[in-house]
Amino acid sequence: MPNEIQLHDKTFVPYIGADQLESAIEKTAAQLSEHYKDKQPLFVVVLNGAFMFAAELLKRCNIKAEVVFVRVASYSGTQSSGDVREILGLTSPIEHRDVILIEDIIDTGHTIAKLFETLLPKNPKSIKVASLLFKKLAYEKAYPIDYYALEIENKFVVGYGLDYNELGRNIPSIYVLKS
Ligand code: IMP
Ligand code: MG
Repeated sequence: MPNEIQLHDKTFVPYIGADQLESAIEKTAAQLSEHYKDKQPLFVVVLNGAFMFAAELLKRCNIKAEVVFVRVASYSGTQSSGDVREILGLTSPIEHRDVILIEDIIDTGHTIAKLFETLLPKNPKSIKVASLLFKKLAYEKAYPIDYYALEIENKFVVGYGLDYNELGRNIPSIYVLKS
């Protein structure tokens, strides 16, 4: 992989390699497979960012499960706007279901909190989160983040689904903003 990538006006450098991502995802998948082996959960993949993580995670979860794809949006540029819009595309009823929200990254937590607040009144049996990355020091909410592949510093990253103004999602590893 190149040691610098230019996206719009910004330069990014390597941060987490593909092998490290893969083994972390493997572990998360093993945890989910164990915890949900008798449950038939509903995975709710939050697009666009989670598409690559979801594919890598779900093909390693050897349990019976449903998968749906939803959209929300809260980010413009490199700062979380906190302005989360409605959830689009939730076509499966979630009442009495064990729901697992699949996210690319948990930053301030505004997006995931909005998802909890929208979904909890629909009376699911449980809601858990599985995120590729977790910026633990930036997290402002109380909802537990039960599953995450890797904790990262409070820095802006791209790749593996994550974008900077829509570029960088297809990079097969994680790059960080050059300081
Ligand atoms: P939060 O609402 O602040 O937790 O932000 C969640 C959403 O912001 C994620 O689903 C991403 O789409 C986006 N986001 C947060 N941090 C980053 C980052 O470092 N790079 C790219 N997108 C990010
Ligand atoms: Mg996202």
